Amino acid sequence: MLILGNEQVRSLLSDADDEVLAAVRAAYVEHERGRTALPHSVFLRFPEEQRNRIIALPAYLGGDDPVTGVKWISSFPGNVAAGQPRASGVIVLNSVHTGVPEALLNAAVISARRTAASAALAAATIRSVVPDTGIALVGCGVINGEVLRFVTRAMPLVDTVTLFDTDLARAEAFAADCAHRHPGLKVEVAADIATALGAHRLVSLATTAVTPHLDGGQLRPGTLVLHLSLRDLTAATVLASANIVDDVDHVCRASTSVHLAAEQAGHTRFVSASLGALLLADEPYRRDERGLTLFSPFGLGILDLAVSNLVRRRALARGVGTELADFT
Ligand SMILES: NC(=O)c1ccc[n+]([C@@H]2O[C@H](COP(=O)([O-])OP(=O)(O)OC[C@H]3O[C@@H](n4cnc5c(N)ncnc54)[C@H](O)[C@@H]3O)[C@@H](O)[C@H]2O)c1
Repeated sequence: MLILGNEQVRSLLSDADDEVLAAVRAAYVEHERGRTALPHSVFLRFPEEQRNRIIALPAYLGGDDPVTGVKWISSFPGNVAAGQPRASGVIVLNSVHTGVPEALLNAAVISARRTAASAALAAATIRSVVPDTGIALVGCGVINGEVLRFVTRAMPLVDTVTLFDTDLARAEAFAADCAHRHPGLKVEVAADIATALGAHRLVSLATTAVTPHLDGGQLRPGTLVLHLSLRDLTAATVLASANIVDDVDHVCRASTSVHLAAEQAGHTRFVSASLGALLLADEPYRRDERGLTLFSPFGLGILDLAVSNLVRRRALARGVGTELADFT
C-alpha cells in the first residue's frame, strides 16, 4: 500500500497542470464512449447538522491504463470559520486485477484540481465568438482558487478577474493571493454580487449555498456560467438556459438546480449535451450569444481516479510516499 499525504500530493502536482487537464479530458471521453462504471455517489448526512456531509464516489475508469477505487470526501462548511478547509478526504485505488487496495491518497488537492480542470475544460470548449478575456469568481474559496489556476492555463487571453464573496475578508484575502500567484492579472473585488455577475461573460459559481438564490437577470447575454456549486441558480434560470452537464443521471440528484429544474419540467430535455459529447464532436460547440449557457458538473469519481493515477505514477517514478507492506 502506497500512502501519500496532502503536501506530497500537492508537490507531485505542482508542475502537472497540463497533465491534469489532459487526464480530465481523457476521462470524459472514456465516459462518453461507455468505458467507465460509475454508480451513484452515496451522501451521508447528519440529523443534527444538515449542511455537513461525507460523500463516497466509487468508480472504474477504463482505457489504456485502467484504474478503479473510491473517493470518500467530507464537506463541513463550518470548518472555514475555524481556519480549516471545508473539504477533506481520501482516495483508495484498488488493483483492477485482484481488487486489492494499492494506494491511499489525500484527496483534498486532487479533488479541487479535477473540479477546476473540468471547469476550465468546459470554458475552453463552450466557446464564444468573442474570446473571453475576463472571469468573475463568485465564492472566494479553495475551488475558485483552483479554477483561476486552470482557466488562466487553458485560456491564456484571460487577463482580468472580478471577485465576490459574501465574506468580504475572504474576497480581499483571495485578491491579495492573486497578486502573488498570478502577477500580471488585473484583480477587482466587486462591491456586490450584481456587479460581479455583470462584469464578464464567463462566471464561476463556487459558493456553499444550499438553496437557489440567483436568477440570470444580472448576467450578460452570451454568458457561460460554470455552476460548480450546483445549487445557486433557480430552476427557472436553468430551464431558460442552454445546459451542458457531465452526466445527466448524476446531476439530477441531491437537490441540485438541474435536479429541481427536472422535477419542475418533468423531463431532462432542457439538457443539451454532456461535456464528453462536445469533446468528441466534429464541430466546435458555439455558445448561445443571446442567452445563457450553464455548465453543471456533478463531479464524477472517474476524474478523481484519473488524477490519482497521474499522482501515483509520479510518486512511483520519484520514490515519494510511504509503502506499508503489512496490508493485504
Ligand atoms: N461540482 C463539483 O464537482 C464540485 C467539486 C468540489 C466542490 N464543489 C463545490 O464547490 C463549492 C465551493 O467549495 P470550496 O471548497 O471552494 O468552499 P469554501 O468554503 O472554501 O469557499 C466557499 C466560499 O463561498 C462563499 N459563499 C458562500 N455563500 C455565498 C454566496 N451566496 N455568494 C458568494 N459567496 C458565498 C463563502 O464565504 C466561502 O468563501 C462547494 O459548494 C462545493 O460543494 C463542487
